[in-house]
Amino acid sequence: MTAYGQSVNSLSTIEYITQDMSVSWPELNEDIRRLESKVDLIFSNFCFHYFNDKSQLLSQCRRLLATGGCIQAVSLLQHDLNQKLPANARKEWCLSINQQMDVWRRALKGNGFAIDVFECEDETYPMNRQQIIAFLPVIIATLKSKFETNEQFVSETRGLEDIMFDTMCNPVADWPNPNAWTQFLANKDVNEVVIRSKVLRLVCHKN
Ligand SMILES: C[S@@+](CC[C@H](N)C(=O)[O-])C[C@H]1O[C@@H](n2cnc3c(N)ncnc32)[C@H](O)[C@@H]1O
Repeated sequence: MTAYGQSVNSLSTIEYITQDMSVSWPELNEDIRRLESKVDLIFSNFCFHYFNDKSQLLSQCRRLLATGGCIQAVSLLQHDLNQKLPANARKEWCLSINQQMDVWRRALKGNGFAIDVFECEDETYPMNRQQIIAFLPVIIATLKSKFETNEQFVSETRGLEDIMFDTMCNPVADWPNPNAWTQFLANKDVNEVVIRSKVLRLVCHKN
């Protein structure tokens, strides 16, 4: 993404830095730490959902922002797989949409942010067959940050494609289809699907 940014906008006034923002403050690149208390705007498009620890993320943002500086972000909320799973198969790491909004609320409050916009919106994304086949593994990969080891991630998400696909395409259905993905893959006549996601729109500022 950094390389892409550079390729489409190489103005000399823009500096691109690639940085894992989930690390602790002392581990951040010196060029980023130098911006402490100087940043006016942190803009993030579909990136914050990769951060498991929202409070740690917001604490880094707060440290970077100048007083009055703001965050404008759009972030996916994770699909609520548990509403489709039988009681004995529910995942304790999978939060409902309300629980995820609460996590965000607490993290914002805990880091002293004033909230200007805090909305959960329904988004729909029509996708062709090729796109969804490429996208489903990406969505499952966003769960990685919930686990300490790759082995845990692999074991907890093994065989999750059916329930994930069913939740994404048919989130309000009372009755789950435990073979949704397998059936989709087998039926080559289905060329388009519509994915539904909940998206958090956030604008907040540092007082
Ligand atoms: C879905 S892409 C969105 C990219 C871009 N904002 C856009 O709108 O096209 C998510 C981006 O989040 C970045 N990302 C994920 N985890 C990150 C982390 N810990 N620190 C920094 N960036 C991260 C990925 O590298 C990827 O570029």
